[in-house]
Amino acid sequence: MKNILIIGSVGQIGSELTMHLRRIYGNDHVVAGYRSTQPSEELAKSGPLERVDATDVEKLNEVVKKYKIDTIYNLAALLSAVAESKPQAAWNVGVNGVFNILEVAREHKCAVFFPSSIGAFGPTTPLDNTPQDTIQRPTTMYGVTKVAGELLSDYYYKRFGVDTRGLRYPGIISNVTLPGGGTTDYAVEIFYEAIKHKKFTCPLPAGAFLDMMYMPDALDAAVDLMEADPSKLKHRNAFNVSAMSFDPEIIAAEIKKHIPDFKMDYNVDPMKKAIAETWPNSMDDSAARKEWGWNPKYRLPEMTIDMLNMISKKLGIKYK
Ligand code: SER
Repeated sequence: MKNILIIGSVGQIGSELTMHLRRIYGNDHVVAGYRSTQPSEELAKSGPLERVDATDVEKLNEVVKKYKIDTIYNLAALLSAVAESKPQAAWNVGVNGVFNILEVAREHKCAVFFPSSIGAFGPTTPLDNTPQDTIQRPTTMYGVTKVAGELLSDYYYKRFGVDTRGLRYPGIISNVTLPGGGTTDYAVEIFYEAIKHKKFTCPLPAGAFLDMMYMPDALDAAVDLMEADPSKLKHRNAFNVSAMSFDPEIIAAEIKKHIPDFKMDYNVDPMKKAIAETWPNSMDDSAARKEWGWNPKYRLPEMTIDMLNMISKKLGIKYK
């Protein structure tokens, strides 16, 4: 049986991944690590909880020993837009933190999951059908940390045999915990605003195409990769994975099918626009499909219906 530690368990992905892993591997086998934000009651009551973060190597060691951890999911990061306002903090969590976790994993023979991102690409990357192996010269601090994390993960596998694995996630759409300070956050916010006010002011311009994925697929992707037969993994780290690609006009049109009087206007955030312009319009994820069977279940229509239903239930507001 695995003993898992999640770093960043109260974040957008971490909060749902922790519960997902507890359902699969058993509550007592999944330790939720958090930094400052108080964990939800569900997270705190359903299994072990430790105040531990990627920048505190001593505490990391202590927790790994205490629970005989053999697998670490490192979900800690500052998202792209917020990382531009705090580049030093983004580096500390995104590079020093990753290094700390890899060192602890080397010492205690743990496997490590590292989520990279579409942010690991930049303006000189081919932006359509972005290849798995291609030019990566990101111009954001978020992207710099993600490329460093990809390379460090490769290095620790090759040099020390640490079982590192990872994905390049696109924008993740979810209805439990809000993302915070990402360029792709609009694709979550639009649902809350559509249900609450039938109106959304979009910070990205029409034509800003980006890869996206619904949370259930993001959770399956992480588990499927970590459970994959290692002999089939040619890449191990930084697999491109995508489930859909759209721009604000396309997602707004999809929502309008269910809320006919929904309206969207624009108040473009220049920084988010500039970031989105350097990220892929759509990635080629054939390596993930071939090497470990990546096959997302949710496309735009199914994701939209589920998001509207879940958020309307959560807010207690009917949308039709
Ligand atoms: N969702 C992230 C962001 O927008 C991208 O990985 O920062």
